Amino acid sequence: MPVFERDRTVFEDEDILRENYQPERLEEREDELEEFKAYLQPVINGKQPRNVFLYGKTGVGKTAATKYLLDHLENDAEQYDDLSVTTVYCNCEDLSSSYQVAVELVNRLRPVDDQISSTGYPLNEVYSKLYDELEALGGTVILVLDEVDQIGDDDSILYQLPRARANDYLDEAKIGIVGISNDFKFREGLDPRVEDTLCEREIHFPPYDANDLRAILERRAELAFRPDVLEDGVISLCAAFAAQDRGSARQALDLLFEAGDLARRNDQKSVTEDHVRSARELLEKRQIEQSLLDLTTHGHLTLLAVAQLTIEDATPARKGDVYDRYETIVRKLDRDTLSDRRIHSHLNELTMLGILDRHDHNQGRAGGVYYEYELAVDLDTVLSALDEVRALDAIDVSNLSG
Ligand SMILES: Nc1ncnc2c1ncn2[C@@H]1O[C@H](COP(=O)(O)OP(=O)(O)O)[C@@H](O)[C@H]1O
Ligand SMILES: [Mg+2]
Repeated sequence: MPVFERDRTVFEDEDILRENYQPERLEEREDELEEFKAYLQPVINGKQPRNVFLYGKTGVGKTAATKYLLDHLENDAEQYDDLSVTTVYCNCEDLSSSYQVAVELVNRLRPVDDQISSTGYPLNEVYSKLYDELEALGGTVILVLDEVDQIGDDDSILYQLPRARANDYLDEAKIGIVGISNDFKFREGLDPRVEDTLCEREIHFPPYDANDLRAILERRAELAFRPDVLEDGVISLCAAFAAQDRGSARQALDLLFEAGDLARRNDQKSVTEDHVRSARELLEKRQIEQSLLDLTTHGHLTLLAVAQLTIEDATPARKGDVYDRYETIVRKLDRDTLSDRRIHSHLNELTMLGILDRHDHNQGRAGGVYYEYELAVDLDTVLSALDEVRALDAIDVSNLSG
């Protein structure tokens, strides 16, 4: 008996539900695509491209729409002999400075046997290598900087690139920048000079509603699943859950995949609404665990304090009450406590991660605002996620509860 065997009872092709599958159509983003297309029209006319900035929450089709349009742009440009259009796609996810982005762009434009290392050159030299590559290529070059907010404060490249032509660094090459960001605050925080050029044209991608998500899932499911595997209501439920939450197509697709995977693991031939519900819990737990990994032990203990208060029906709880509980826990562990200011910042972080909800109370004339916190996610999910990270903290969560 082999250990692995091919199965095809549930999925026809599960890759269709994966992140990097490029859908052929993006009907729910017609308006955004229309606008985007108009901004790229100068390219086909052989003119200087505009810089475009796309923003919207994660999973709303920004990357998919960009790849879709730029593929068409490159293809359609081929019919004109006097046009050469190249697009360079760069995801800044793991690039935390302008330097790293510039190196990445140089390497994208160079053959594999002629790459530069990501250390050791002065920044100016990297820029000048980048301009050399762009000049050698010539024509129109569209540089896509996806998840550009990840480069943080060190954003000089966003200032340099759009001005390269005006500053006579480029002559043959006409470059256009497509910046994409999940974080609108990033744009607000840009230097006004950068903002003027980089965000010359902007397109906002709003969250999807349940109808959009259902249509998206239906098209993908038809290719991904074997016929008649999905019970009625499965797609609508995935769409409804994702719409309630963040309106993210990625989340909806993950949910559908995970539901199918649960059916497959249990050797069941159809995917049911119960699978979707379990999948949702599973994904939520995984996401919380992931977020918890980025927190310190005291962040975990702060969350544990809120979880205990929840068990005792004492939430929403004020900051001071959370702090008292935190202190009790830490004393039991024989460790040093952090100041209440630090715990406050942990509470803020947990709120930002969507693990806690914060209620603001205005005390009217008496003055001042106070905050109350409670879990934004299921208590059991939090406890089991804390249990998972417990090993990291060397804390036995179950012994502490109650
Ligand atoms: N309108 C749509 N039609 C089909 N699939 C879509 C649509 N919008 C998003 N998707 C899919 O949802 C997932 C997330 O989209 P993506 O473009 O990566 O989001 P973003 O870049 O905004 O975070 C991808 O798998 C993408 O193919
Ligand atoms: Mg994206």
